[in-house]
Amino acid sequence: MQNPVAHPAPIGVYDSGVGGLAVLRALRKRLPGESFIYVADSANAPYGDRTPEFVECRAKEVTRFLVQRHAKAVVLACNTASVVAAQRLRTLHDVPIIAMEPAIKPATLLTKSRVVLVLATTNTIRSESVARLCRTYGTDTRIILQPCPGLADRVERGEFQHIETRLLLETYIRPGLVAGADTIVLGCTHYAFLADEIAAVAGPSVIVLEPSDAIARQLSRVLPATQEPHHRAATTSFFSSGSTPHMRAFLASIGEASQQVQVLPAMGNPSDEARPCGKPPAS
Ligand code: DGL
Repeated sequence: MQNPVAHPAPIGVYDSGVGGLAVLRALRKRLPGESFIYVADSANAPYGDRTPEFVECRAKEVTRFLVQRHAKAVVLACNTASVVAAQRLRTLHDVPIIAMEPAIKPATLLTKSRVVLVLATTNTIRSESVARLCRTYGTDTRIILQPCPGLADRVERGEFQHIETRLLLETYIRPGLVAGADTIVLGCTHYAFLADEIAAVAGPSVIVLEPSDAIARQLSRVLPATQEPHHRAATTSFFSSGSTPHMRAFLASIGEASQQVQVLPAMGNPSDEARPCGKPPAS
């Protein structure tokens, strides 16, 4: 019989790539007794420029993988996958699916200038979820939606301080500042790794909202209460669909103690003759 102390059911955490590692950090800080499985779908990143159909297909596959590995909850540590696929995933699985959305509501409560700048992927910016948030909370606040193509890619490559990254940040942030934004919402988990660089462009009077802690609080609220802490057995396993040496190097660069990365097994949609996402049916 499985020993619950030695083998606690893990929590699945999933992103298109390395961005969700910032969320994972917050989850482990708040829930140090839990074990985690982290999946980076780096072979298919960035999701921001993929079709929503492709992102939903991958989100279904990765979530199925995590549930098959007995995840007791799945955190979509990716705004793009969340806004595209969370509702569908909740109809497919019984475990809690924790999804992200840009922190537009808190931003509208904090802004004094009544101008908020949202940085996110093109898919997130165009999503119905963001349109709904703007309709609900944007009645007395101007919400500037800024898609940031190329930015998540820079983070994937670990180029936080690269001059090209700085130029991209200037391009995406400066117009919002000129329009009077005093609050910036990081609507893509990759951007958490650029928080210092974003703050440097924005200046000290601008609030930068990064949602990892809020997600960790939400997860701790929905998790079934554990009978006893199992600190000794808590582990984190990493999987990547892309280059495992690259992911190992990234983990080392952010000070992650365990840098064991496994290859994410190839998956197919069982209802679709194991056809990979994005591939048309054979004629
Ligand atoms: N980290 C993801 C997000 O929060 C997606 C970045 C990407 O793959 O484009 O939206």
